[in-house]
Amino acid sequence: MTEKIIKDIDRLKKEKKAVILVHNYQIPEVQDIADYLGDSLELSLIASKTNAKIIVFCGVDFMAETAAIVCPGKKVLSPDINAGCPMADMVRPEELRELKNKHPEAVVVCYVNTSADVKAESDICCTSANSVKIVNSISPDKEIIFIPDKCLADYTARKTQRKLIIWDGYCHVHLKITVEDIMRQRQKYPGSVSIVHPECTPQVIDVADEVGSTSGMIKFARETKAQKIIIGTEIGIIYRLKKENPHKEFYPASDKAVCLDMKLATLEKILWSLENEKSEVKIEEGIRKKAFSSVKRMLETN
Ligand code: 13P
Ligand code: SF4
Repeated sequence: MTEKIIKDIDRLKKEKKAVILVHNYQIPEVQDIADYLGDSLELSLIASKTNAKIIVFCGVDFMAETAAIVCPGKKVLSPDINAGCPMADMVRPEELRELKNKHPEAVVVCYVNTSADVKAESDICCTSANSVKIVNSISPDKEIIFIPDKCLADYTARKTQRKLIIWDGYCHVHLKITVEDIMRQRQKYPGSVSIVHPECTPQVIDVADEVGSTSGMIKFARETKAQKIIIGTEIGIIYRLKKENPHKEFYPASDKAVCLDMKLATLEKILWSLENEKSEVKIEEGIRKKAFSSVKRMLETN
């Protein structure tokens, strides 16, 4: 049955000139059929450059929206339109406008984990892979509002030595990873090194050996001489890490770090999506253009 679904997906992909973009947290079967597998930054770069007519985006809503923002002439499909990001929902455009009114001269840096409406209200976008570079690209005499993740904001502020105006958002998945988790795994696996996502708390970041986005973790795992690696992020990435590094061992910092929204795409839904060209991610053109300027500024800063 699975083989037949994969064959049908392949056929439709060719017939319709479609590509499948998959985030590192997706379920193994979906990772295995990806044309491109990556983090938020890599996937938005690929979306901005692809010649495909259709992009099937297996991730969460803000990622598919970002693809639609950078590809106005293309159809961006989401296999499950219910896949959202609770952190992205923690900031609404009207709330951001209120904060901007209090700091009219501030530059607004929005994490890519935001809706198109919020990106449209921002000056420059960033991801966990480039937040330090983006903040460093802003003139030192400017105030900066950083939304919505307070953990990524804290990490970026410390790395850049900049004082940021920080929104009170967070990722409930990364907040489940604790200092005790890192300590316990370290004791259990002597000689191991740990790498955590910057969405983790500052306390977790302080005890970890390394910090990185999901693509940063993929690179670190490939390059490190360590054989045992503790991974402080959503556990879906472990599948890719093991597949690409069969002679190394990977341990999740916490089994509780599961993002259910990232598990909604399945092979069946991808096939349905390609067959019916649904569900299409649509953004009102005025909003798209404004959001594009903040994403474009990020892509040009890379
Ligand atoms: P990355 O950009 O590091 O893949 O992270 C996306 C995300 O949603 C992390 O929770
Ligand atoms: Fe959003 Fe957190 Fe899930 Fe990433 S892991 S998509 S930040 S809820």
